[in-house]
Amino acid sequence: MSNREQTLSIIKPDAVERNLDNEIKEIFKSNGFKIINEKKIKIEKSEAEQFYKVHETKPFYNDLCAYLSSGPIVVMILEKENSVIANRELMGATNPKDAAEGTIRKKYGISIDKNSVHGSDSIENAKIEIDFFFKD
Ligand code: CMP
Repeated sequence: MSNREQTLSIIKPDAVERNLDNEIKEIFKSNGFKIINEKKIKIEKSEAEQFYKVHETKPFYNDLCAYLSSGPIVVMILEKENSVIANRELMGATNPKDAAEGTIRKKYGISIDKNSVHGSDSIENAKIEIDFFFKD
């Protein structure tokens, strides 16, 4: 049975600023992800606060939201078999210094904050995150 599912990916300000968005999109495509929809946008801090609401009690919440809203980002709906897990594997560990060789965060990440990409952490959150950016 096919298990094709969608996940939300964000290319974060540090990567867009370095013009890495096309290169990162190619990595997704060459790993079998189909980009169903995409847009380059800049969000307000209040929108970042809503997007990252699950982290609102964390000490890094304010910096995280300031950072995501600091410059243009590329948001994408990615589709592949088991895309949530596949995307998390391809991104690598949250902290680039712990990320495995061959992962996006290992290759491009600068720090735990400037870790170049975000990906949904569950199928349920993928639906919520896709709606957040693409429901009109
Ligand atoms: P992301 O996958 O976008 O989800 C939340 C983000 O918070 C995470 O990537 C990191 O960039 C950022 N972050 C900053 N500090 C931490 C931390 N201590 N633990 C987890 N995430 C952190």
